[in-house]
Amino acid sequence: KQPVRILAIETSCDETAVAIVEDGKHVLVNQISSQMKTHEQYGGVVPEIASRQHVESMTIILEEALQKAKLSLTDLSAIAVTKGPGLVGSLLVGVTAAKSLAAATQLPFIGVHHIAGHIYANELEHELTYPLIALVVSGGHTELIYMKERGSFEIIGQTRDDAVGEAYDKVGRALQLPYPGGPHIDRLAMEADGTIELPRAWLEPDSYDFSFSGLKSAVMSILNQAKMKGQTVEPSHVAHGFQASVIDVLSTKAMRAAEQYGARQLLLAGGVAANQGLRQALTEACAAANIPFVYPSMAYCTDNAAMIGAAAFLKWEQQAFTGLDMKAEPLMSL
Ligand code: KG4
Ligand code: ZN
Repeated sequence: KQPVRILAIETSCDETAVAIVEDGKHVLVNQISSQMKTHEQYGGVVPEIASRQHVESMTIILEEALQKAKLSLTDLSAIAVTKGPGLVGSLLVGVTAAKSLAAATQLPFIGVHHIAGHIYANELEHELTYPLIALVVSGGHTELIYMKERGSFEIIGQTRDDAVGEAYDKVGRALQLPYPGGPHIDRLAMEADGTIELPRAWLEPDSYDFSFSGLKSAVMSILNQAKMKGQTVEPSHVAHGFQASVIDVLSTKAMRAAEQYGARQLLLAGGVAANQGLRQALTEACAAANIPFVYPSMAYCTDNAAMIGAAAFLKWEQQAFTGLDMKAEPLMSL
């Protein structure tokens, strides 16, 4: 039987990524051109620059992927791309490239939701068992999702203000750490020999929603007050207190959801799933509650195209293809 080889493209934010995934499991190549260095100097992603760089990198990355996999376009089964959500100018570059390829090759075309991609990144390495609770945490998303079965999503909680990764990056900037601040705060928190007690936003007792702007403001006000008094605050203590608050709220709500919904698995996904402290806390909580816990390896946590290939395979199995009149959807819902 011929393997199903999906070429997947992801350009929703600041990574130009192309992958070829076989049968939804085997990653033949996973090419990424990161624009981190470019955006670092601005302290965040500049949309205009991001889309221009995607244009410059796209054909190079595509050729690299095919060359590295020793495949030609005729060896492929389908072309997949992130349809949304994301930055419109960035999405458009990937969508246009993918449509052109599909039109030229006459291969089936598959539009994928970015968050479905983050979730199914787990299928590259794990068996998923349903029902499950997915905790999706990234620079743009903070969601608790109930998945009754494969392909079904019910958002049971989400952030009311900042996404977790966004809060990490803002606090990172306040601590004068390089962009993105997430990994740096994670490292500082792990090394810290002290902490600063910070608030936790639990919201209503039965709510699965999140709020991180108050926590972020608390950090800012501690730093500002110290500055006015001419005192210094140890950055690793701030990082430790901030990360402790984030992890406490995320893991407490995720575990409560897993129990209430009778989840047979807890799944972690998104860029912040790379966080060592969060992985550790959920590993321990899930072991105590006897709920299997899965998360992707580091390379599949932050934005990549292999996860889009994995999510597209699901649609391939259902033969649920997308028309070439598909439009990028910057605010697409799951
Ligand atoms: O999934 P992703 O690559 O892009 C979005 O779809 O948003 O996530 C990027 C986010 C950034 O905010 C970054 O700071 C955060 O993931 N991140 C981390 C860690 N590694 C990446 N946050 C906390 N700890 C980490 N180790
Ligand atoms: Zn993402």
